[in-house]
Amino acid sequence: MKRKIHIVGNWKMNQTLASIKTFFTEFNETCAKYNNCNMWIAPQFIHIPYLQELARTRNLVKVGGQNCSHVNSGAFTGDVSAASLKDMGADFVIIGHSERRAFFQEKDEILNTKTINALNAGLKVIFCVGETLEEREADKTKAIIKGQIDKGLAKIPSNKIKDVIVAYEPVWAIGTGKNATPEQAQEVHKFIRGHINSTLKWNSDELIILYGGSVKPSNIDELLDCQDIDGALVGGASLVAADYDKLCASGNRK
Ligand code: 13P
Repeated sequence: MKRKIHIVGNWKMNQTLASIKTFFTEFNETCAKYNNCNMWIAPQFIHIPYLQELARTRNLVKVGGQNCSHVNSGAFTGDVSAASLKDMGADFVIIGHSERRAFFQEKDEILNTKTINALNAGLKVIFCVGETLEEREADKTKAIIKGQIDKGLAKIPSNKIKDVIVAYEPVWAIGTGKNATPEQAQEVHKFIRGHINSTLKWNSDELIILYGGSVKPSNIDELLDCQDIDGALVGGASLVAADYDKLCASGNRK
């Protein structure tokens, strides 16, 4: 029996009030049919309340953040805390995206603190891992992912494990149009599930593991057919209502 499919849109630093309004005008037409699929979207922080207003009319889409601070309050100019996200009604937060790791130098240790804080604030966490092309070509994919998991998901309180989702996003597949093949993705997803079970001692049968990296309506079905792929974390294709709709329709059928 497959775990419930999650289709998560990571809108990154995109969209305007006008484009969000258009998106939901189109998407709300059909999305009520997809009650077999969890539909989540992470807009820019500042757009969260507006998205909630549009998306929550029928309580169908969950809204979250793309990052959060490692602390809950204080003199950290420009940061947004997990507690504030929760306070604003967010349901989840993405932590450890490769763009945060690369452009903002976020290391495993701080990502672990962010994850624990966010879970304690009552958010679900989508924790991202993934290797670069160089690392894959040097046959280091599993070693890299193992390190990211061991450090990033250390010391999670046992009552919070159910709120953790892992996203495998190979860096070379993000925004490149070149997705991992279903075989490549399945191999890593299976490894992640097994490793989390044996090393962190979580019962990972129920763990949701998303694939991210150039997911589109044309390739989602074959990815979701894989045993250990429980959904997708989608950038570019999630910005267009018609494409996001098709992705959710695929998720709903699985
Ligand atoms: P793309 O779907 O645009 O490749 O982005 C993937 C991603 O980074 C989602 O977090």
